[in-house]
Parts: sequence; structure tokens; C-alpha cells
Amino acid sequence: MPATSPPVSFDPDRGLAVLRTPNSVYALRLHPDGSPRHLYWGAPLDTADLAALPATGSPADSSFEDDAAADELAPQTGARFGPAGLQVRFADGTRGAQWRFTGHRADGGELRLRLQDRRRPLRAELCYRVRPDSDVIERWTELTHLGPQDGTDGPITVDRLDSAAWRTPALPDYRLSHLVGGWNSEFQLRRDRLPVAETVLTSRRGLTGHHANPWLAVDDGTADEEHGEVWSTALAWSGSWRITVHRDPVGRTGWTGGFGHDGTAWTLRPGERLHTPVFAGLYTAHGFGASSTAWHEHLRRHVLPQPERDRPVLYNSWEATGFDVSEAGQLRLARLAAGLGAELFVLDDGWFGTRCDDRSGLGDWTPRPAAFPRGLRPLADEVHRLGMEFGLWVEPEMVNRDSELYRTHPDWVVHSPHLDATELRHQLVLNFARPEVESWAHRTLDTLIREHTVDWLKWDANRPFTEAGWDGHPDPDRLWIGHTRAVHRIMDRLRADHPGLRIEACAGGGGRVDLGMLARTDQAWTSDNTDPVDRIGIQHGFSQLFPAQAMAAWVTDSPNPATGRSTPLRFRFHVAMAGALGIGGDLSSWPAADLAEAAELVARYKQIRPLVQHGVQHRLTPPGPVAAVHYASRDGRDHALLVWRPSTRFGHPPAPVRLPALDPAARYLDPDRGREYSGAVLVHRGIEPPLPAGDYASCLVRLHRTDS
Ligand code: GLA
Repeated sequence: MPATSPPVSFDPDRGLAVLRTPNSVYALRLHPDGSPRHLYWGAPLDTADLAALPATGSPADSSFEDDAAADELAPQTGARFGPAGLQVRFADGTRGAQWRFTGHRADGGELRLRLQDRRRPLRAELCYRVRPDSDVIERWTELTHLGPQDGTDGPITVDRLDSAAWRTPALPDYRLSHLVGGWNSEFQLRRDRLPVAETVLTSRRGLTGHHANPWLAVDDGTADEEHGEVWSTALAWSGSWRITVHRDPVGRTGWTGGFGHDGTAWTLRPGERLHTPVFAGLYTAHGFGASSTAWHEHLRRHVLPQPERDRPVLYNSWEATGFDVSEAGQLRLARLAAGLGAELFVLDDGWFGTRCDDRSGLGDWTPRPAAFPRGLRPLADEVHRLGMEFGLWVEPEMVNRDSELYRTHPDWVVHSPHLDATELRHQLVLNFARPEVESWAHRTLDTLIREHTVDWLKWDANRPFTEAGWDGHPDPDRLWIGHTRAVHRIMDRLRADHPGLRIEACAGGGGRVDLGMLARTDQAWTSDNTDPVDRIGIQHGFSQLFPAQAMAAWVTDSPNPATGRSTPLRFRFHVAMAGALGIGGDLSSWPAADLAEAAELVARYKQIRPLVQHGVQHRLTPPGPVAAVHYASRDGRDHALLVWRPSTRFGHPPAPVRLPALDPAARYLDPDRGREYSGAVLVHRGIEPPLPAGDYASCLVRLHRTDS
């Protein structure tokens, strides 16, 4: 491949578009019917070879078969019987589009292909973006109603507008990796053989969801952490979504995905445009580890707003106090937290309105007089004086019926007037798609930040949407997309107006973590489940796509409130040190020895923080008898290894942990134990982790390269 190959190119004569990243290439070709069809996605090939690739043939010469060539965005016309990425209805009842290619624009790393319906005033632009320092390809779609033409001036109903369709080359078999779970059990990694069927991953909740995350990876069933080709994609959307993976009976696999779930529509009026979120794709040749590393790098370079800032060691009072907050109680915890080395103090739920439990007060964002008779400023000032930043929990999208806000604006909630509204956690969802609600929320949060000198918002959302309607609006389904866009917009405005502000994404734990949310937040609250054993699995799944610096992890009390399991403080710390460390226990009940040990472990964390938060993460073992994660500095000199063994078994010493990312030619010193190792031994044979005896054993090993 010539070194000068541009990142994106389009050859109008051959109808060939090529996108190049440092280690992959993506190509598509215009079909004679005018629609762009997928050609290749994988290891680099040169353009002449791509041009010579045959079009995918039909599997059989039969009038019953699907048109074999894969659409970049499948409309609902022609011999296409798979999942459609575009589903439109015109005012006269006609369904589906038929394209005519009308041009392209290639500009730097961006390519746009313009398609127009042959008869109707509908235009689609398929958009692609590549960057010189990432193998991730970003794709999205823009759909425009071109206004009255040919006498057709009615609205166009968009039942589905996907961001992109993806396809792997033909593989001998197909395996799907994806994340499933629920509240308290998010990010459980599954690797399932893909059935010959359509497999739908979706959220119908108005939130990204605990139960599925819009990330997936496909391989041939043989890839492992270090080897094998992996094709993976992630959707940058924080509301409902759908990805349909289709493996057909003759061995082809592709998937199409975007925002929205089945049964919701968007009415596009003349002159209007609807654009989708980005659906990003990544090809890697060296296993799931390389795939995750490349995603982490992409997030750091192109998604997270301030990746270079250290995530502070935070203290959050939720598990300590629940709703029972008061100025005196919070001050006591703040002083203890500062003593441990915390850098941020977050006041959680219960500080506002009449909020003594979850039945009232949501929506009334002024300090609760009984808890904070002097307002929040004395607490914020003292937290600042103690050398910490001040953070505040908010749940701006929600309202209790028992609140001043609901009494004043009952019409602001997501609600169908002819249905009973389901309350979950005694709350309803505010319709942020309404401009007046969006501006109220922005104003309220902006005032809070200014008046209480807030450095950090924990932005929560504790229920999905139900009976989602918008009374009196001609196109009520707009609320699904409009709400999420408004949440993103408010966060963007707050960050722009308060440059120091940081935001933590939360939705009952990890219910809204995606590339759209992480583009305007610094980290995500991974799960309300803070049990360290459960967390090992949750963190393993989270790390498939998201970097450790975005993974909030707290040390809480033992026995754990969620599972009742008792674990040593050191084990709890070592698990939480694998992400952005926080403390969430009731410090006022910790014995002095625990406080002293915690202070020592916080200091240890700060030593390895540059590696955990800004280095490169390597997963060493899947969660099992022993799990381990390795963080390396970018120059390869410093390393931290966290090893956890939840349960012990007589006669089964832990196997040595191999560190394949080290340099076999180098030498490494463990400065804490004064031991030196040959790199070759660490790479090929492994290190005996210095685990103490017993259950819930863990260790931190630091290694420093000594030879150069
Ligand atoms: C959600 C969050 C918790 C806590 C509570 C407060 O469940 O995930 O961390 O903030 O809400 O009500």
C-alpha cells in the first residue's frame, strides 16, 4: 500500500470508497442500483486489490433469495429480506426508499455519500470518519425531507433510521461477545455462538440500560485475549437503541444498529433533517485485549472530555447515610474522608426539597431546611477548606408526585393522558424534549453549581420510561430521541459554562454508560453493587470497551450491604484500585486500624494512579479462581499488577500470572519486595503472585524496568 494513501477516498468511475486507519481498511462499492454496498473490512489491502474484489454473489440462482450484497444502510425495497436499517413511510402509504447516488464529499478524514430517492423528496447521507491515530471508524446517517417535489409534500414517517450496518468477512463460524446484566449486576460479559437467526440487542427503556450495552464483538469463535481477529462496534447513544445481528444460513453475518426501539417513529416534515448518533466500529487482529486497548485509546483521544485530568479519589456518603443526611453528619464524614486522602467529597441523595426518603422531593433542588438549615454553603466551604472538591448528587430528569415541581407542572412529565402512569421508585420522568423543561433543568443546575460552588455533579436517573407520551404534541414519539439529546445538550452547556466542572454518569449504577454519555462525563458509576467479588466480573465486562479512568469503584463497608459478604479491607481496596478509586463506607464506624490502613492504601493508589488512569490496561486472566489486571505506563517503564483470589482451595496454589505485554529482553524490579525478574520469565512463565493465605486474598505488585 503506498504510504501516501489518503485516509478516505472515493473513485467515482469505479464507485469505490476506501477508508484507511493505521491498521485496518474499510471499503464499499456502489451497486448498479445506486446503493452503497459493503465490500471489505479487515487488515489493510491496497486500493487496486480492493477494486478487483468480486461483488458478493447471490447464494443461489433463485427468486426466493436475498440480494446477497450487503447494504451500508438497507432500505425496505428490492430483494432485501433481512433487518432494514431504514424504514420510512410516505404520506400515501408507500414504504421504503429506492436510491439514486447523487454525489460524495471526501474531506480530510470524513466521507459523505449522498443518496436520493428516485421519486420522493428524501435524501440520505451516509457519513464516515476516520482519524490518523485510531483504528475506530465512526459512522452515522443524516436523513432530509427535501420539501415539496413531484407534488409530494406530506410528512415522511421514519420508523427506523440506523446509524450504520456492519459486516465481517465470511468466517468459518461466528461468536458474539456482548454485555448483559441488570441492576447490581451490570456488564456481565457473554460469549455466545451466534445462532443462524436474527439476534436483537436492545433497550426499550429510554436509557442505555443495565440489561444490555450497545457494544458487541464478533469473532470466529477462536479469538482469545492475545490472538485472533475481532470486529467490534459501539453506539454513542444514551437512550433506547436496537442492534440486530443477522447470521444467515449460508454463512454471512452482519448487523445494523442505531437509536430508538421497535414501534417508535419520527415524523419528518418538509425541510427537516434527522441525524443519528455515531455507531463506531473497530477491527483488530490481535485478540480481545488489543480490541479493548484500541477502544480505550480511542475514548481517551476522541471521546472523553478531559482524559488528561486525574480522577480524584472521592468519598460519597450514600452507603453511609442513605437519605439521613445533615450538615453535622456530612461534616463529620468529610473530615474523616479528608484524613484518608480523599480529594472530592460528594453529598448524595436526600439533601433537597422534602427528601427524607424516595417518596417526595425529587424536582425541588433547594437545600432541605431540616438537614441544611444554613444551606449547603457552609458544608461546601468546609469541604474546600479541607482541601477537597465539593460534589453534589442530582437526578434532574425525575420528579416525585409529592414535590412542588410536580404540583406546579404536572404536564411536564412523560405521560399518556389515557393511560395510568406507572411509578417506579415513586417517581416519574420529566419530558426533557419539551424546550421549557430543558431550559428549567439547565437553569436549575447552573444556579446550583454557582450558588453552592459545586465542582462535581453525580447525574443520576433511577427509572426507565413507561407510558411514554407527550400530550398535545403532533409527533409524541419525538420525546424518546429529544429527551436524550436534551440531556447531552445540558451537560455540554454546563461544562462549557463551568470549565472546571466534572460530571459522573449514573443511572441506578451503570444503567447509562455509552460513548454518548462518556463524551460529556468524566466517569461512570459502574454499579450500585459494591461487593468486591461481584465487582471483579462487572469490571471485567466494563473494561471490554471503557477505560479504567472512567470506571468509578468504591470501597464500602463489610459485610457488603448488597450481598452480605464480609471481605477484608485490603481486598476491597485492591479491587477498587483497578479503576477510579472512591470510598463509600460509613467512616464514622470504621475502627482506627481500618482508617489507618485505608489511608495507607489511598496513598498506594495515588502512586499507581498514573498507570491505572493514564496507562495501558492488560487483562491477564478472565474472572476465575484468580483474576489479574496489569497497567503499564506508556513508556513501558512502570507497571502495576493487581491480583485477586476470592476463594482458596487446598493443594491448588495459584498458577503463575504471565505478563505478555512486558519486554522479554528487559529486567524488572519489584521495589516493594526488592526482587528482580527477567522479562522473559515474566512474559513466558509468569510471576507467583504474593497472595496471603485464605479467602479474599489480593496483592498489588509494582514493577519498574531497570535495564534502560
Ligand atoms: C442510585 C445511585 C446510587 C445512589 C442512589 C440515591 O441508586 O446509583 O449510587 O446515588 O441512587 O438515591
